[in-house]
Amino acid sequence: MKNIVILISGGGSNMAAIVRAAEQERWAARFNARVAAVISNKPDAAGLALARAAGIATAVVPHKDFASREDFDAALAQAIDAHAPSLVVLAGFMRILTPGFVTRYAGRLLNIHPSLLPAFPGLHTHQRAIEAGCKVAGLTVHQVTVELDHGPILAQAVVPVLPDDTAASLAERVLVHEHRVYPQAIAAWLVETK
Ligand code: GRF
Repeated sequence: MKNIVILISGGGSNMAAIVRAAEQERWAARFNARVAAVISNKPDAAGLALARAAGIATAVVPHKDFASREDFDAALAQAIDAHAPSLVVLAGFMRILTPGFVTRYAGRLLNIHPSLLPAFPGLHTHQRAIEAGCKVAGLTVHQVTVELDHGPILAQAVVPVLPDDTAASLAERVLVHEHRVYPQAIAAWLVETK
């Protein structure tokens, strides 16, 4: 069985979409894969309750408990490896990971970023796109490498920027497409690595 471990920091809507897809598209039967655990750096991440309600193992590794990024990442890796992951999925995970962590999971570490990379790496992507006068925005599913928001692209989706868009309205519209594209990209990864 291929174990997928999903890392979250907040609402976990992308995690929930992946869990739903795994169930509805029968990933266990088709790809011999399952979401084995959901892990968060935030004890109060609302997504943890969603995972528990779906019967998925959860764990919390509070980043505030660690003196350094390296110490946190080592504890996080330990929690992840308890589930023998074939794939680690960052889904609204708001921590910058150390090169040692990224190298440990090289080739099996994915992220979703709310812009059409390489445009707008980093934070506040929707506000920056609006301020730049972009006519389109979107999302990118990519392999995580040591350079932030820069790894090989697996999937993208384009979302129009409307004249009266705010960062919030654009984010809401992009999120709907994230929930469609991320599960599709993971399923494609599972097929390719079967
Ligand atoms: C999403 O916009 C995603 O692109 C970014 O985190 C935001 C929240 O994701 N990485 P979620 O609802 O916690 O999945």
